[in-house]
Formats: sequence, structure tokens, C-alpha cells
Amino acid sequence: MPKRQTDNSGPDDRFFRHLVGSMRNGVIAIHRDGTLALVNDEAYRIFAVTHEGDDTGRHFADVFTARAELRRVLSGAFELATLPNRVELRLKDLDRVIGYTLSLVKDADDQAIGAVMFFKDLTRVEQLEERERLRDRLASLGEMAAGIAHELKNPLAGIEVTAGLLRRHLPSSSDAQGLLADIMSEAKLANSIVVEMLEFVRPIRLQVEETDVADVLRQALSLAERKAPRGEVSVKVAVATDLPPIDADHNQLCQVFSNLMTNAFEALEGRGSITVNAVLHVIDTDTAAAHVETPARVVVIDVCDDGPGIAADMAERLFDPFFTTKTTGSGLGLPIVRKIVDAHDGRIDLSTELGKGTRFRVTLPVTSGSQWFSRKAR
Ligand SMILES: Nc1ncnc2c1ncn2[C@@H]1O[C@H](COP(=O)(O)OP(=O)(O)OP(=O)(O)O)[C@@H](O)[C@H]1O
Ligand SMILES: [Mg+2]
Repeated sequence: MPKRQTDNSGPDDRFFRHLVGSMRNGVIAIHRDGTLALVNDEAYRIFAVTHEGDDTGRHFADVFTARAELRRVLSGAFELATLPNRVELRLKDLDRVIGYTLSLVKDADDQAIGAVMFFKDLTRVEQLEERERLRDRLASLGEMAAGIAHELKNPLAGIEVTAGLLRRHLPSSSDAQGLLADIMSEAKLANSIVVEMLEFVRPIRLQVEETDVADVLRQALSLAERKAPRGEVSVKVAVATDLPPIDADHNQLCQVFSNLMTNAFEALEGRGSITVNAVLHVIDTDTAAAHVETPARVVVIDVCDDGPGIAADMAERLFDPFFTTKTTGSGLGLPIVRKIVDAHDGRIDLSTELGKGTRFRVTLPVTSGSQWFSRKAR
């Protein structure tokens, strides 16, 4: 497509270009014929498009070849009767959500001579909202579970005691003795499930200290090896040398990673490999909440296995309490992991492919304001 000549002269024009270039929003402006009038760096970053020179004057379809969703928005800009205000655009391959507004650029005769799109990366905001929703869901679920568990404790104790009394009344009937012993042991089992459930819904208290991630991973591995047979599975743990200690509860983090490693061992059934990687990241804090240190340093720990992977419909329910595919599992492993990570103000993400493997990614802040922690410690 033809490259349009741009006139970039005059101090006002330069000021305007610097202004747009320094903006923390993405900006893309096009002329009526679809050639680019302006693209700022943030726009390139958000859409993950690398550029070498100035793209102004080129058609937007030639510059954003890989971004079909963006091309669709820009192509429709002059046809829309009402222009969208604060719309969300999901960039699936980048796992990114952006919010944008679209405006027409009009000349003195009120003719549309161009269109401009302003947008912002909302991914982090979305993640925080998602976490809030999940917290609410778990809180109400926990309340309900605690209520039920509490109600069940008394009748279960009643059954056990009554069966014991009956045993004393029927000393001569060995059949009855056997059946009553069964009733008592089943009631005991039910009671232990109730106790475990109450344990799970109990608020978390964090003992925050300077915690060495490598230590945690080492200890977690030996815990996991005791819980699940390792077989021929190879385990590689790589911790970046620049990893600082983090403010965290050492023991509870051990539980997080031993649960994840145990799951991986169980999924691998004796053969395959597990890789654990821990690295330091600095995240863009523009959209981060005000309580997070700036710039926010986080430790990202991946627990990967090359096991069977998880089907998409199952993956959605993985963190639900009592969801299990194992005959002996309680289905509380991952909900507990999420609860602990959440209490650390961190996040956990899953990516998995059937037949290829599974990766759990735990992201934890290096430092969390102590006041934020105490507010969170639930
Ligand atoms: N690495 C993994 N690969 C494949 N499936 C997994 C993996 N991790 C978890 N899962 C699936 O998620 C389910 C829930 O895991 P979770 O740890 O919460 O409970 P569980 O392992 O079944 O029981 P528990 O941990 O309480 O003994 C598992 O039953 C399994 O189907
Ligand atoms: Mg488990």
C-alpha cells in the first residue's frame, strides 16, 4: 500500500509528538485512507509489535499484520454510528486485556479526517478483580463448609457414643459386635473428614519472615517424596542466583510447593520429569495497586511436569475444594495452595496441554508492606 508523506515540522508539532510519545496510554491514530498518522511506543508494547523505524504513513494493516483484532477495530472506525467508549479487547495469544476508546478526528467542516484509538493494558487490573471474586467465592464457600462441619460434629459424636453403648448391651452377639464396631469406625472416619474440613476453612495466620526460596523448594521436594512415590521421575530445581529472600511464611510456602510437587509425582506415575524454576521479575507498576512497592519485584516460581496434562473443562474446577480425580485424594491440595498464595498477596496460574504436561506458576511479591500483610492475614 502507498506510503503517505508526513509533514513533521514546527515546534508545536514536535511538542505534540513528544506528548503522545510520553503518554502512558497506547495511542494509534489513522488518516481516513487507513495510513498511520501516529503510533506511540506504549501501543507497540501493548500489542507486542516490534518496529524498526517510523511507521507513520504506512497502512495500519501492513504494520499490525499479526493483530487481527486491532485491524478489525480500526477498519470499522469510520462506519460505526456510535463510537465505542471504554470497550475491552482480549488478545488471547498474549493473554492480555486492553480497554480502549475510539474517537473520530474532525476538521473545521466537521468532516472525519481520521480516527484515534486510546487504550490501556488492563491485564493486571483484571487479575486483581479476578482474585477479589475468587476470594469472595472461597469466603462464602468456607463459611458454608464451616457451618455444615459444625452441625455434623454433634450427630456424628452421638452415633459413635450410641453405638458404643449398644455394644455394651449386646455382649453375647458377635454379629452385632462386628456391625457396631463398623458403625463406630465409619463415624470416626466421617468425624476426621469434618475436622480436616474445619482445618481447611480456618483463617490463615502467616508467620512472615525473610524466607529463602531455594530452602523452601528443597524442603518441599523432600516432603513431596515422602507423600508420593517418585519412581524414575527426574527432578530439576533451578533457582536464579540473583533471587532475594522474600517476606513469606516459610512453612506454609513449603506446603504450597510440596502439594504442587506431590501432584506432579502423582500425575507422572513413576516416569517423566519435573522442572522447578525460580526467577526474579520486575513488573510494570502503573496498573498495580497502590499498596505494592514500586517498582514491584516479584519472584516467579514455575513447577512444570511433562505428564498427561489436564482437560480444559477440568482445569476450571481444579481449585474448587474437594475436586479430585484420585481414589484416595481429598481434593484439598490445590485449594490450600491457592489460599496460602492468596494470603501472601501472590497469584497462581495454570497452563496445561493434554498429552504434553502442566505448569503451575506461583508469583509472590518480594516484599509486602507489613500493614498489608496483617490486613490480609485471615
Ligand atoms: N500436575 C498435574 N497434572 C495433572 N493433573 C493434576 C496435576 N495437579 C493436579 N491435577 C489434578 O487436579 C486434581 C486436584 O488436585 P488437588 O491437589 O487439589 O487434589 P488431589 O491431589 O486429588 O488430592 P489431595 O491433594 O487432597 O491429596 C487432581 O485430582 C488431579 O486430577
Ligand atoms: Mg494433591
